[in-house]
Amino acid sequence: MFKNLIVSCFIISSFSISTFAEEGMLIPSLISAFESNMQAMGMKLSAKDIYDVNHSSIKDAIIHFGGGCTAEIVSNQGLILTNHHCGYSQVQSHSSLENDYLKNGFWAKTFKDELKNAGLTATRMVRIDDVTSKVLLGVNSTDKEEVRFAMMKANIEKLIKEAKEGTHFEAEIKPFNYGNDYYMIVKEVFKDVRLVGTPPNSIGKFGGDTDNWVWPRHTGDFSVFRIYAGKDNKPADYSVDNVPYVPLHFLPISFIDRKEGDFTMVYGFPGTTEQHLVSSQIKYIVEKERPARILMREKSLSVINSSMRSSDEVRIKYSAKQASIANAYKKWIGQVGGLKELGAVEVKKQYEKAYLEKALSKPEWKEKYGMTIDLMNKLVESNSNDDFKYQMGIEYLYVGPEMFDLAEALNDIYMNYDKYLEKNELQAKLDILIKGAEYFFKNYDVNVDKGIFELLNAEYVRQTKGTEEIYVNYSSKSLTNLIYSKSFLVNKDSYISFLKNFKKSSLKKLLKDPGFAHWKLEASNFELNVVPNYRLFNKKMNELLKIYVEGKFIMFPEEKHWADANGTLRVTYGKIEGSAPTDGMKYTEHTTTDGIIQKFNSGNPDFDLLPGLLELYKKGDFGEYAQDGELWVCFSGSNHTTGGNSGSPVLDKNGYLMGLNFDRTWESTMSDYMFDPSRCRNVVVDIRYVLWVMDKYSGAKHLVDEMKLMKD
Ligand code: ARG
Ligand code: GLU
Repeated sequence: MFKNLIVSCFIISSFSISTFAEEGMLIPSLISAFESNMQAMGMKLSAKDIYDVNHSSIKDAIIHFGGGCTAEIVSNQGLILTNHHCGYSQVQSHSSLENDYLKNGFWAKTFKDELKNAGLTATRMVRIDDVTSKVLLGVNSTDKEEVRFAMMKANIEKLIKEAKEGTHFEAEIKPFNYGNDYYMIVKEVFKDVRLVGTPPNSIGKFGGDTDNWVWPRHTGDFSVFRIYAGKDNKPADYSVDNVPYVPLHFLPISFIDRKEGDFTMVYGFPGTTEQHLVSSQIKYIVEKERPARILMREKSLSVINSSMRSSDEVRIKYSAKQASIANAYKKWIGQVGGLKELGAVEVKKQYEKAYLEKALSKPEWKEKYGMTIDLMNKLVESNSNDDFKYQMGIEYLYVGPEMFDLAEALNDIYMNYDKYLEKNELQAKLDILIKGAEYFFKNYDVNVDKGIFELLNAEYVRQTKGTEEIYVNYSSKSLTNLIYSKSFLVNKDSYISFLKNFKKSSLKKLLKDPGFAHWKLEASNFELNVVPNYRLFNKKMNELLKIYVEGKFIMFPEEKHWADANGTLRVTYGKIEGSAPTDGMKYTEHTTTDGIIQKFNSGNPDFDLLPGLLELYKKGDFGEYAQDGELWVCFSGSNHTTGGNSGSPVLDKNGYLMGLNFDRTWESTMSDYMFDPSRCRNVVVDIRYVLWVMDKYSGAKHLVDEMKLMKD
């Protein structure tokens, strides 16, 4: 019943055609509710072209890339495109000082030259079904929580088993709208995904951190992979005998002139949005949580950046790690700014007032929804510190010093030594650690780690353990010197030799190691005192959010409701559109290669170009890739996207590929909490630039020829 209500809300809202972006990340299997609105904005496709389970549809070309990004199939030989930053760690792992693919790019000349990537998956969605009533079958709202959960768990297990029966598919059931709805997602997971090509950083990461999250943009943020399957075209583990996957659908390429106002649609896997947080939680995020996390990352980055600048070896080792720390760091600064700019706390308070008034207008609503907001705000006031300690623990223990990763891995042996010995598994476990150590130390620099430890440890203590006095007495410096001069965790040879000679007495030795001992102290405190409180806070909040969101659906049926992003496949649509987020400033909707030269001339190393590239841009040989004599590099659109949408296809009115989504503008990043149609813009690299780079710069015209170019 709840689902029908959602759909009817969608239909009502679809009659109002906005001139701006359309908020919302829509579930593809419900897209028919939006068909008329999308068509009114120029789309020529039907809902069934976008999502169908009985016939092939665009859905079949959309790939969940490695679980975090999106990719799309562009040929009948399993060729896929995603962002450069999505394939970055794979490219990095194939790179060395001799074969510096980060710096120079890489292009496989033949299928045989394509590089395998252990652990990388490419997943196609087979079906997305509403299974709410089946999950809740026999669940009695008056029963105890444990009884209800057990019932639901049994239902879920049964449904998944049935869905997988007789197939090679995987299936999962995910809650939507805080458990007001459940959807089953059936998928096909390909496990042999090879690197075909990547442009150099000076294209794929052009603009680096200076331009990240910023418009105007000139980044060629793409890389190319290929899905391989067994001879039966089904997923198979890596094997030289595997063959290129033949897809159910692949995206034709839009080689058609574009202009501002053209319809756009983004199809991909947005990760997380939190549109329903209450005013006090937004206030906590803006004033406390984000500033503290930003500071932690600022400290790590100060160490990493300066070391990367002074050594090529450190640059290669740390480029992927640096990119990931810096990316969220800069986004958060944008979010805080955007939420303040929008007066988000005040906007939320106004909404909460209206919600309460509505709830009080009917006795049954009053009873169900009358107290919810108040309880949520109170919960934040009394317990947001539980969240704060958790987030800081994550920054310190999991994003901070890398030596902690080894300590955590060793702790498994420490805790389970007797068990592993008894089951004869000890040697295998140690071997895994020894192998992991090779990989770990390949990308490790002890001085960088030491610098990070010293700064983060002091900041973590200051933020979570109270007074300045403790902080001063704690002396991060002496602890740092002790650990980084004595611990065997920070030295490859002593670490591996410790593992190779492991015996019962090693356990004692382990506890005496200052690095392990310090990690153990902090990690146990985190596990025992921080995590449980954080979980409880979240559990209580999610229960309240479930009621709050239900109230929105029930009491405000005329509003457009959409389920927060949760890493599942979604459709969002809008237009090619520029923006004017700051007074006195207007951004055009596209950029060209002229901007690359202008940025290069600024002298900022983030805009460095390889000599050959500079020549090529200056020569301006754009051929059929150009529009009115210029080559579009990027364009911006009014599509509601978030992290995870990276690599998502941006489709035109015909369902042809116009470009790859790779970012949002800084002024948009608050859309994870509050969307503003007048300023939220996604950033896209134009497919014509991508193909030009393949053809003219990379000598990979054969890949362009593998695709299907649509000229009208
Ligand atoms: N901001 C984009 C996204 O969140 C792109 C990140 C990669 N680019 C970079 N310069 N680090 O993930
Ligand atoms: N670059 C982001 C990603 O990796 C997308 C940008 C965004 O957050 O919108 O998914």
